Amino acid sequence: MNNRSEFERVVYDNKFRVLIAREQIDDRIRELGRKISDDYRGKNPIVIGVLNGGFLFMADLIRHIEIDLEIDFIKLSSYGDEKVSSGKVEVLKEINADVKNRHVLLVEDIVDTGLSVKVLEKKFSAFSPASLRFVSLLRKTDKAKVDFDIDYVGFEIPDHFVVGYGLDHKQILRNLPAVYIMD
Ligand code: IMP
Repeated sequence: MNNRSEFERVVYDNKFRVLIAREQIDDRIRELGRKISDDYRGKNPIVIGVLNGGFLFMADLIRHIEIDLEIDFIKLSSYGDEKVSSGKVEVLKEINADVKNRHVLLVEDIVDTGLSVKVLEKKFSAFSPASLRFVSLLRKTDKAKVDFDIDYVGFEIPDHFVVGYGLDHKQILRNLPAVYIMD
């Protein structure tokens, strides 16, 4: 029993509490996809996933967006082994696409302090896109230190450290099917 993985301990030993079940995530992503399809009809947007955390959400979301679109990815530094933001955001992988005059939709896993989206907004605005919007699966309601409007939010959540469905702690637990509260 002692050598069970963290994954097994979460899923089978009920180590953490489920905050958002897989079915709820699916339903909400379907709604977001419908809304985004309506808002971007005829526009061929470029949907940019923010790695690592946003990859699962991005993959599921675009399958519910029923218009032509292109994709790319940017990678930002994560919290490392910490559960709180270091206050620094570094770009570890740049996009390849030219987004000048394109409709850009950035896909985040979670907005916590809002620092990452702020950095992304500044960076992408400088590329002169036709439009720039953000979609985030989660947003910590009480936490935002920077005043920033997220265009599409999946779920507003209380200020807890969460894992699963793309979100990690020390790089593991991203493959949990639901979102769990860890603290
Ligand atoms: P922000 O810059 O503070 O808004 O943080 C955004 C990034 O921090 C997210 O894209 C995540 O990678 C990470 N993050 C923030 N909160 C959590 C959490 O509760 N669990 C796992 N990662 C988190």
